[in-house]
Amino acid sequence: MNNFFLFVAISAVIASCSPHQETMEALIKDRLNSAVQQYELMAGSLTDQPDRLPRTIDGEGKLLTTSSSGWVSGFVPGSLWYLYQYSQKPLLLDYAKDYTARLEKEKYNRNTHDLGFMLYCSYGNGYRLTGDTAYRNILLTGAESLISRFNPAIGCIQSWNTNAKWQFPVIIDNMMNLELLFWASKESKDPKYRDICISHADTTVKNHFRPDYSSFHVVSYDTVTGKVEKKNTHQGYSDDSAWGRGQAWGLYGFTMTYRETKDAKYLEQAKRIADFILHHPNLPADGIPYWDFNAPDIPNAKRDASAGAIIASALIELSGYVDETLAKTYLETAETQIRTLSSPEYFAEKGTNGNFILKHSVGFLPGNVEVDVPLTYADYYYIEALLRYQSLKK
Ligand code: GLY
Repeated sequence: MNNFFLFVAISAVIASCSPHQETMEALIKDRLNSAVQQYELMAGSLTDQPDRLPRTIDGEGKLLTTSSSGWVSGFVPGSLWYLYQYSQKPLLLDYAKDYTARLEKEKYNRNTHDLGFMLYCSYGNGYRLTGDTAYRNILLTGAESLISRFNPAIGCIQSWNTNAKWQFPVIIDNMMNLELLFWASKESKDPKYRDICISHADTTVKNHFRPDYSSFHVVSYDTVTGKVEKKNTHQGYSDDSAWGRGQAWGLYGFTMTYRETKDAKYLEQAKRIADFILHHPNLPADGIPYWDFNAPDIPNAKRDASAGAIIASALIELSGYVDETLAKTYLETAETQIRTLSSPEYFAEKGTNGNFILKHSVGFLPGNVEVDVPLTYADYYYIEALLRYQSLKK
């Protein structure tokens, strides 16, 4: 063998042995195609129960469902819309319409602050993609129901109803429900929904955050004085800890609030929250947070794929609002998170995992509910992150 052929042969051996990293473009396309197949199976599995929607799986891997009033009811319809947007498959359009229609009566639900999650992920995406005016009317009725929970003296929308522990609990998650209200003001030309969003966001900035820009999960207000009565956790490790998904909701919520208002103070808030998350010594190198940044058993604590997916999606959006250096940092983290969630450790094989896409999320660890399981919102924000990354300008 002459030297040239020897060189070619050695190069070929080296190339075949060196680890090959898929491009993001190829990886995203591949995982979206798999997600389409998985969600066709998922949607097909509940066609005989028209009043139920997927929630998670039990210990034997069997699908567990929710009624339309459960806070997670809108995520599978929303994922079906996203996957229809990507694939343009008529079957997914049929499923998306079917599962969305299952939520219609919730437009009158004044018992929950989660109407934003429920209706905007389902009907909101449906309206964006089809322009169906029936969807628009349902969303506007839902927005009216949601603002019935606003208390002007406190300045917030009430999250959970009054109970033995809290007079007027507001949870950081509630920032997410504002997206429906911002939309309602744009669509109806009535500023009242947007005014409520701004009041809620400002009160949240004032009372939910610690000096390091981590957030409390629950802030409860005294209904007589309007002042803060308690700062606690419900789903986190302790009142003073940083519950993983709570930090993710805050990051996403303030990024969205900046998008809708262009008020620099919300951008600053989002950047500070991102700083807290990205520079936290307990954030693993693969980008997927533990269920709580202060879980006592780190590094053996459970990871929460849902928090990773929400943060990835938020960082991709936030990267569009900041300088080049920061944008690069945000996108590198989002890429790491997407690659981790797209690896066999998190990404389920077709037909397994109750036909959910991602494994290893944590719903409510202190209650021993939904620990290390697939969750609808992990899938929804993962798909959203893939689509957002795919649409970045090259
Ligand atoms: N919004 C409830 C949760 O994040 O678990």
